[in-house]
Amino acid sequence: MPLLSSPVRPLPARVRSVLGSSLLAGLASPHSVDRYLESVHPLWTTEGGRAQVTAVHRETDDVVTLTLQPDHAWAGSIAGQHVRIGVPSDGVTQTRTYSVSSSAHRADGRFTITVKRKDGGVVSGFLHERAVPGTILSCSAATGEVVLPEARPNRLVLVSGGSGITPVVSMLRTLADEDHGGAVTFLHYARTTDDVPFLADLRAIAARLPRVDLHIVPTGGGPGEVLTGRFEAAHLDRVAPDHRQTLTFACGPTGLIDALEEAYAAGDAGDLLQVERFTPRALVRTEGVSGGTISFARSGIEVIDDGRSLLEQAEAAGLTPENGCRMGICHTCTRFKPEGAVTDLRDGRICDTPDTRVQICVSVPAGDVVVDL
Ligand code: FES
Repeated sequence: MPLLSSPVRPLPARVRSVLGSSLLAGLASPHSVDRYLESVHPLWTTEGGRAQVTAVHRETDDVVTLTLQPDHAWAGSIAGQHVRIGVPSDGVTQTRTYSVSSSAHRADGRFTITVKRKDGGVVSGFLHERAVPGTILSCSAATGEVVLPEARPNRLVLVSGGSGITPVVSMLRTLADEDHGGAVTFLHYARTTDDVPFLADLRAIAARLPRVDLHIVPTGGGPGEVLTGRFEAAHLDRVAPDHRQTLTFACGPTGLIDALEEAYAAGDAGDLLQVERFTPRALVRTEGVSGGTISFARSGIEVIDDGRSLLEQAEAAGLTPENGCRMGICHTCTRFKPEGAVTDLRDGRICDTPDTRVQICVSVPAGDVVVDL
């Protein structure tokens, strides 16, 4: 994608409406109006869905925060939501989902994402090595249901582990920008304090808002900390003894989220816990190939099941279905299944109901299946 040295504001709505007129489309033919606009600036499109990197900040050795100027299609985000970011790779756009890490109240219309580098990760690798001020990325609208309620709770617990800190830090920053007077317990698990992004900002917020109680928990142990080691229910009993009566948001790896769900369920408080996973539950094994045929209805392609996910088999057949996390979290890959049976790799359940929607990254055929692709 192109790189421009200076940020340019998206086109104003009135200009876009003129540019989107059928008269102009006719004059621009055989090309689209967007093609001419893009040659001036890639954020100038009538359709939208792009963002320009305006700043790059290294949080830790393997975590980077990018500030993004979105185009006119951006409708803002609610604290806790995520976006799908696309980067060019071998002639196609690869996308991944990242939580917004900034406050929902940024006055400049920009937002940040914070990206942990993954071994061999195409998108995280690009964002670490090649994203510089001026880089243009594709960017979806913000989505996600695990968000800060509009009526701010007077008491809140936020728990995160590793890079799961991003959506909950967005919640805390949003509350801080509102000078929130409620009590917030913020519990974050990291190997060492050196691995904690935003640490200075978190400490500054806790120092300014006396009812914010911040606990960084080094899972590898550490001198002088109130809590150490991996999450256990006793941690919450100690720093938030009222957690079974308190709305709690959590984001982190599977082990942490599973343990939290267990702790809240044991206290009959499962409905107070809202979680966002960034790693999937362990996928179940299937019996191998089903012997069925996958019919990609829209493209007219048929293949014999080879045991991989529907997404991988579609890609192997030359199709390019939209996808994001590739592990059952973001729902970007959800496609219509008019008929046939699939196994959900997360829980082993077979879905043979016709006319349903399935996440093709975590579904394998369980016999013949038709997918709208
Ligand atoms: S790509 Fe995210 S759920 Fe399938």
